[in-house]
Amino acid sequence: MRAVIASAAGGPEVLSLGEVADPVPAPGEVLVEVVATAVNKADTLQRQGHYAPPPGTSEVIGLECSGRIVGLGAGVEGWSVGDEVCALLTGGGYAELVAVPAGQLLPVPAGIDLVTAAALPEVACTVWSNVFMVAGLQPGETLLVHGGAGGIGTFAIQLASALSARVLTTAGSAEKLAVCAELGADVTINYRDDDFVAVVKDVTDGHGADVVLDNMGAAYLDRNLDALATEGRLVIIGMQGGTKGELDIGKLLRKRGAVIATTLRARPPVEKEAICAAVAEHVWPLVAQGAVRPVVHTTLPLAEVAEAHRLMDQSEHVGKIVLTVAD
Ligand SMILES: NC(=O)c1ccc[n+]([C@@H]2O[C@H](COP(=O)([O-])OP(=O)(O)OC[C@H]3O[C@@H](n4cnc5c(N)ncnc54)[C@H](OP(=O)(O)O)[C@@H]3O)[C@@H](O)[C@H]2O)c1
Repeated sequence: MRAVIASAAGGPEVLSLGEVADPVPAPGEVLVEVVATAVNKADTLQRQGHYAPPPGTSEVIGLECSGRIVGLGAGVEGWSVGDEVCALLTGGGYAELVAVPAGQLLPVPAGIDLVTAAALPEVACTVWSNVFMVAGLQPGETLLVHGGAGGIGTFAIQLASALSARVLTTAGSAEKLAVCAELGADVTINYRDDDFVAVVKDVTDGHGADVVLDNMGAAYLDRNLDALATEGRLVIIGMQGGTKGELDIGKLLRKRGAVIATTLRARPPVEKEAICAAVAEHVWPLVAQGAVRPVVHTTLPLAEVAEAHRLMDQSEHVGKIVLTVAD
């Protein structure tokens, strides 16, 4: 089959289409003919050699896809050849075929076309699992979303807003902040110009954010604690600002706060299955109603994967970058 291969670790130019062996579905897996996939920050890290796939998984980049089932491994029930699906992958999405555990399949939400559906699994599963399952955001609470104009950010703003939280968000330009506001953010903060801690304190009358969804890691650790409300939950999902920071435990315990960090890719299949089931139950109805929509910056053919990665490296995008695989 055709798949994206990397000639070396490096910039976007190392990516091109090549031939690799077809995947074979193991027991409990299905074989999906990929119609579209989408670019994630993790893909750019894998390309650079900073994020190796878990042992035993595909070397091909790609954490999500949409497509049609073309084969069933032993013991798979509830899915049939020909079903249109989208899927949360551990890898292998930038290819014509991918094998995926049946528990990581999701139906295509009503009203969403099959290509656009590729933009949903990673953001929906990451945001639902972290903001709602782990941090337990409640209606009426305040969520601070860092990087609100990215793939994760555009989804988090909409989902939290649809579920009656107050949403504050950071982004790096006035144009991106305007999109965040249009998606439902109540307060937008330009992280280049403004101190997000001061703004969060100001707009919450000193209360702070009940939940912070963080992509910056070390660089924001101390300021995120300052922005956190009493009994607040800081959920770190990205390390764009480094991995090693200093945690002021005094601040944390005075606030009875929690600092939690997770990565979806490394979770065992049974946890991914539970997350996918929860997303289908709680998130897909909101997508079908139009209360939460996939935000797609651009859709490119898989042959233009290097340009897609360049866009993400330069952060020129708002929302997701989709790659079409099948015609
Ligand atoms: N742990 C997990 O399971 C998991 C799963 C998925 C994603 N993630 C992480 O979530 C993050 C977002 O992923 P993505 O795929 O949505 O990537 P993305 O679309 O490239 O979003 C990254 C965002 O980071 C923002 N950013 C850059 N510098 C910033 C700063 N100083 N303060 C605040 N925001 C800043 C960018 O905003 P501007 O363009 O406005 O500068 C951009 O919107 C990444 O760190 C990724 O690794 C983690």
